[in-house]
Amino acid sequence: MLILGIESTCDETGIALVRDGRTLLSHVVASQEALHQPYGGVIPELACRYHLDVLDSLLKKALVVPLEKVDLIAVAQGPGLIGALWIGIQFAQGLAFGLGKPLLGINHIEAHLYAATMGAPPPFPALGLVVSGGHTALVYVKEIGCYTLIGQTQDDAIGEAFDKAAKLLGLPYPGGPHLERLAQGGDPRRFPLRAGRVKKSPFDFSFSGLKTAFLYLVQGRETGLPLTSERDRKDAAASFQRAAFSDLVEKAKRALAHYPCKSLLLGGGVSQNQTLRHLLAEQLPLPLFCPPEGLSADNGAMIAGLAYPQFLRHGVPTEGITAQTRPPWTSLPEEHADESK
Ligand code: KG4
Ligand code: ZN
Repeated sequence: MLILGIESTCDETGIALVRDGRTLLSHVVASQEALHQPYGGVIPELACRYHLDVLDSLLKKALVVPLEKVDLIAVAQGPGLIGALWIGIQFAQGLAFGLGKPLLGINHIEAHLYAATMGAPPPFPALGLVVSGGHTALVYVKEIGCYTLIGQTQDDAIGEAFDKAAKLLGLPYPGGPHLERLAQGGDPRRFPLRAGRVKKSPFDFSFSGLKTAFLYLVQGRETGLPLTSERDRKDAAASFQRAAFSDLVEKAKRALAHYPCKSLLLGGGVSQNQTLRHLLAEQLPLPLFCPPEGLSADNGAMIAGLAYPQFLRHGVPTEGITAQTRPPWTSLPEEHADESK
């Protein structure tokens, strides 16, 4: 089954052709990094216009087979920026209508997890860890399409915290990869930073306090000594990374004690961080599955990929699809359905 996947939830436009959920025929992404860089964050209105401008030409690049050969159109339905979502959805709706093909809406966070299974199939049940610019979540994946949300961030996403910390160090947007580079050779134990604890929610995350602590550290609010030397900045970056990642490891370990799993699935833009990958592989007693090269950050391949098992399981909705800033997961068990909202 040949599926065309369309992604436009935030600041990347992605289109891909995937056969049977796994075989990548084409995969193109137009990044808006340069567009948003002067503002240090994503400007939704600019993001929407950019998606609109590039979707047509990206589709042409992605079409390595005639459009008529496509069996199903899949589009990211949310979560995401509402305007950006609508642009992708209306583009997909137009294609599906014009071609007379079925249309499926895909949950973007589920797709990030699915991306981790696109290299080699992992054993299930798996513990899923989504770490991106908009999301941080721990998920029990009984199998693809059957999830229990264990914990999620109560404030900022981890990637957002990386971007803010990087900005404080004078690094360009998006700052995650720059901060990782700066942290190399830095002393991760020099500054005693730590991520937040969420009262009575041992699996949830909180990164806003870490962001504030980092601001005070860089400005030297308590010491009267702002961090300016290259050594200081390196140590600060390494300490920030250690604080954020040791929190992920700790909560993943805690989750595993309650939900025994056979593998760990890591997805989302922050999963490109090599320090995080090493730490998880070293500290957790189960095999780590990461997205293949190019499929960690937002892309159309993970949308087209997940559409395959979802179509086999549920078919396509008869009522059509709408943009949803907080869509439910395809099949969260009843008792956890509310937590996903
Ligand atoms: O998954 P993604 O492309 O978009 C969302 O769905 O949000 O993730 C983007 C995020 C940005 O915050 C970016 O700084 C972060 O992923 N990121 C990284 C690295 N590469 C990208 N964070 C830390 N280390 C990296 N190497
Ligand atoms: Zn994403």
